[in-house]
Amino acid sequence: DIRGFIFDLDGVLTDTAEYHYLAWQKLADEEGLPFSRDANEALRGVSRRESLLYIVGDRKYSEAQLQEMMDRKNRYYVESIQNISPQDLLPGVVTLLDELKQAGIKIALGSASKNARTVIEKLGIANRIDAIADGYSVQRPKPAPDLFLYAAKQLGLEPAQSVVVEDAEAGIEAALAGGMWAIGLGPASRVGAAHIVLPSLAGVHWSDLHAKLNELVI
Ligand code: G6P
Ligand code: MG
Repeated sequence: DIRGFIFDLDGVLTDTAEYHYLAWQKLADEEGLPFSRDANEALRGVSRRESLLYIVGDRKYSEAQLQEMMDRKNRYYVESIQNISPQDLLPGVVTLLDELKQAGIKIALGSASKNARTVIEKLGIANRIDAIADGYSVQRPKPAPDLFLYAAKQLGLEPAQSVVVEDAEAGIEAALAGGMWAIGLGPASRVGAAHIVLPSLAGVHWSDLHAKLNELVI
């Protein structure tokens, strides 16, 4: 049976994806690198280094320059998340977290971000989360299953007892590679490989998810 939920952060619990985008855009503009809101779609759930390498493309930079650019982007990002508050939780999140707790289901965070802890504290949900897997937890980024396996292990659960909630294609791939249940938020073109696909968590209840997951087991 399902004993735990592992939530991605950006694009699932809150919309920090926009702040990541604005920070990368500022850096790209300063460096004269072509980048756009459209191009940013490819960076959903992608680690800091992989994101930078994608933006840099064929342009040659030294390791020291890459490091400086990652630090600069992070400064812009950290600055932009200072005013995040519980009001920035996406619709449906609080209700679902409450229902899961009520049902005795454990909650973990599974985010590639090194700023994940700060963000959940600002969102006011740190005390509802039983385990954190973040940008410091594992080496291999999504679509490798490592981050979610780490999260399940922290909860003391088997992958098959765990449900991952993700908005990124790489995140769904990671969940499936880890042998977990996957709920994808967004268009089927992006998260269609998930066991359950929903537009968002708005109006989503544990009882409905439970019923759908049980159908899949049979
Ligand atoms: C998440 C976000 C990405 C971000 C990555 C690393 O996966 O969706 O946009 O690049 O975390 O975040 P960080 O805060 O460590 O740079
Ligand atoms: Mg995400």
